[in-house]
Amino acid sequence: MRPIIWATLAAFGLLSGPSAFAQTQAQRGEYLVTIMDCTGCHTPGTFLGKPDMQRYLGGSEVGFQIPGLGIFYPPNLTPDPETGLGKWSEADIIKAVRTGVRPDGRQLVPIMPYHSYGKLTDEDARALASFLKSLKPVRNQVPGPVGATEKPSAPYLTVVMPQ
Ligand code: HEC
Repeated sequence: MRPIIWATLAAFGLLSGPSAFAQTQAQRGEYLVTIMDCTGCHTPGTFLGKPDMQRYLGGSEVGFQIPGLGIFYPPNLTPDPETGLGKWSEADIIKAVRTGVRPDGRQLVPIMPYHSYGKLTDEDARALASFLKSLKPVRNQVPGPVGATEKPSAPYLTVVMPQ
């Protein structure tokens, strides 16, 4: 008797709880973008306490300062061709997310958590990149990067040493 009940429960997915097998690739991509908190840095308004979901992942107007290196603004991740990732292939996106290397060869600063994202599986990396490609394009050019000796024109977060 018992094995039959177990087999029935398993067939309906009731033993494993919420599981990945019922997800489409797009749902998986959206789930990953949410739990990996891309929006925490890349959506405008987030650092000002009012995330602008009309411009979801459209780039941040608040940068991160690395003392001695400069100020880095989380760019627009939507497929806008001029101000976002419209001209990047999915492979370009996957490489930047996992290794921090942009198509032009520049290494991103590690505020972008590519050291941790490097552990993404191939399947998850593809789901993530294809979800970003499916977003509504938002036209928004973020400032910078601003060099260590340049004057910033937009707000930024910094590290302050106690006096
Ligand atoms: C803690 C903040 C933070 C989080 C979280 C974050 N990023 Fe970033 N990301 C940045 C910053 C800052 C840059 C710019 C770094 C630079 O210019 O060197 C960046 C750059 C990028 C770039 C390069 C874009 C370009 O035009 O050069 C891509 C692609 C990217 N992030 C994707 C993602 C994705 C996808 C996620 C979620 C899985 C994510 N980021 C999460 C801060 C973050």
